[in-house]
Amino acid sequence: MLATRFVLLILVTLAAEISYAADPDLLQDFCVGLNDSESGVYVNGKVCKNPKHVTADDFVFSGLEIARNTSNLLGSNLTEVFEEQLRGLNHEGVAMVKIELAPKGTNPPHSHPRASEIIFVLKGEIYVGFIGTNPTDATRPNKLYAKILHPGQVFMFPRGLIHFQYNVGKTDAVAYASLNSQNPGIVTIASSLFGSDPPVNPEMLARAFQLNLETVKYLQSLTWTRNN
Ligand SMILES: *[C@@H]1O[C@H](CO)[C@@H](O)[C@H](O)[C@H]1NC(C)=O
Ligand SMILES: *[C@@H]1O[C@H](CO)[C@@H](O)[C@H](O)[C@H]1NC(C)=O
Ligand SMILES: *[C@@H]1O[C@H](CO)[C@@H](O)[C@H](O)[C@H]1NC(C)=O
Repeated sequence: MLATRFVLLILVTLAAEISYAADPDLLQDFCVGLNDSESGVYVNGKVCKNPKHVTADDFVFSGLEIARNTSNLLGSNLTEVFEEQLRGLNHEGVAMVKIELAPKGTNPPHSHPRASEIIFVLKGEIYVGFIGTNPTDATRPNKLYAKILHPGQVFMFPRGLIHFQYNVGKTDAVAYASLNSQNPGIVTIASSLFGSDPPVNPEMLARAFQLNLETVKYLQSLTWTRNN
C-alpha cells in the first residue's frame, strides 16, 4: 500500500516536471551566448561569454522599425529575434519575431516544437488560427481555432500546434510575436514535406495526402520559398 503510494507520488512528480518543461533555468544573472562557431564546445544552448566582457550591446537588437520586402511568393517577411540574432537571449527562454504581410500574404502553416507563442497585431487585419491535435474519436475532425484580428488584439498559439497568419485586409499588416524559448524552431509544413532534401518517397506522400503521384511530383518540383 505504502509502496503503491510512493510509486504514485513519483509518477505525479514526474508528470509535473514534464508539463512544466521549458528552456532550462539560469543559475546566474545572464549567460550571453558566445558568438563562436569554432570553439567546438556544444551544450544545450550556447556557452556563456565571459561576463567581464558582456556589455549592454549584447542585449540589443536593432532595425525592427524598418519595413521589410514582402514581394515574394508568400507575400510575407519574418524578422526573427532568436538567440542566433540576439546573444543575450541565451538561456532566457524568450524570443521575438516581427511578421510583415502584404495584402493576401501569408505566414504559412507551421509549428514551433519548443515554444508557445503570443501574437500582437500592430497594423492591418490578420486571419490567424491553430488546429488541435487529433481527437480521440477518430470519426471527428481536428478542431480549428481561428479569428480575424485587428490592431491592439492579441492571440496565442499553443506550443507545437500547427498555426498560420494571413492578411485579409487591404493594407500591409504588421504583427509582433513573443515565444517562450530562446530558439523556438520553425517547422513549415508544406516546405518540410514537399521540399525536403533528399525528397520524401512520393508514393508515400500520395497515399498520405490522398493525391495522385503526378500532383505529388509536381509539388516536389516546386521551389519552396521561405519567409525567414
Ligand atoms: C525580407 O526583406 C529583406 C529586406 O527588405 C530582404 O533582403 C529579404 O530578401 C526578404 N526576405 C524574403 C524571404 O523575401
Ligand atoms: C523587393 O523584392 C523584389 C523581389 O526580389 C524586388 O523586385 C523589388 O525591387 C524589391 N523592392 C524593394 C523596395 O527593394
Ligand atoms: C556573430 O559573428 C558573426 C561573424 O563575426 C557576425 O556576422 C554576426 O553578426 C554575429 N552575431 C551576433 C548576434 O552578434
